[in-house]
Amino acid sequence: MNRSCPADTILDRPPVRVRLRPTMQSDLDFVLTLEQDDANLPFITPWERTQHEAAIRFPDFRHFIVEGGPQLDAVGFLILVGCRSRHLSLELKRMVIQTKRQGYGRAALHLAKKIAFDDLGAHRLWLDVKGRNTRAAALYRAEGFVQEGVLRDAVKVADGFDSLAVMSMLRPEFDARRAAALELAA
Ligand SMILES: CC(C)(COP(=O)(O)OP(=O)(O)OC[C@H]1O[C@@H](n2cnc3c(N)ncnc32)[C@H](O)[C@@H]1OP(=O)(O)O)[C@@H](O)C(=O)NCCC(=O)NCCS
Repeated sequence: MNRSCPADTILDRPPVRVRLRPTMQSDLDFVLTLEQDDANLPFITPWERTQHEAAIRFPDFRHFIVEGGPQLDAVGFLILVGCRSRHLSLELKRMVIQTKRQGYGRAALHLAKKIAFDDLGAHRLWLDVKGRNTRAAALYRAEGFVQEGVLRDAVKVADGFDSLAVMSMLRPEFDARRAAALELAA
């Protein structure tokens, strides 16, 4: 069962209200449409509907709808994988936000980190990001993720190959950021 996160977060700049709730079957049209959007497709590897359906059910996954704005409408989704990892190593598998540069992505990432480290007991939260995805990489860097290395030419893209940068945050790093008031309170 997915667990919802009731926490709302207010960002410093500008104030943005964001909430995560478990994705339901009825959300999958929205999720699949977002994945197929030309604004997102170059930066992700879209899944079949059945993969999302499995991710909703499978206990190792947490599939969330990002709700934001004054009406808390669906503004995106994110997926955590490895929630039962014996190594306490969780992956932020995917995050897609529909209306960009409104602060939803940063706010959702704060919540994802809080869920990973506080609720799911992660020691390590990692992700990979395509070399051409400078927007997401800038966000992850600004949010304290450390680049571990680059998988060269790891993904085939329309005009050749792109690399994947592997980035992570460890629990002591998260704790230090929280002590510096850079993360949501426990
Ligand atoms: C990456 C993504 C999730 C970020 O969400 P978002 O809501 O647009 O991000 P925010 O508005 O919270 O912006 C946060 C930071 O992201 C970075 N950023 C956002 N848009 C940017 C742009 N066009 N160029 C450079 N940096 C950008 C900045 O660091 C920004 O911080 P700032 O507001 O201080 O400038 C979103 O753009 C998206 O869905 N992209 C397509 C799918 C994708 O790439 N997913 C991640 C795969 S690893």
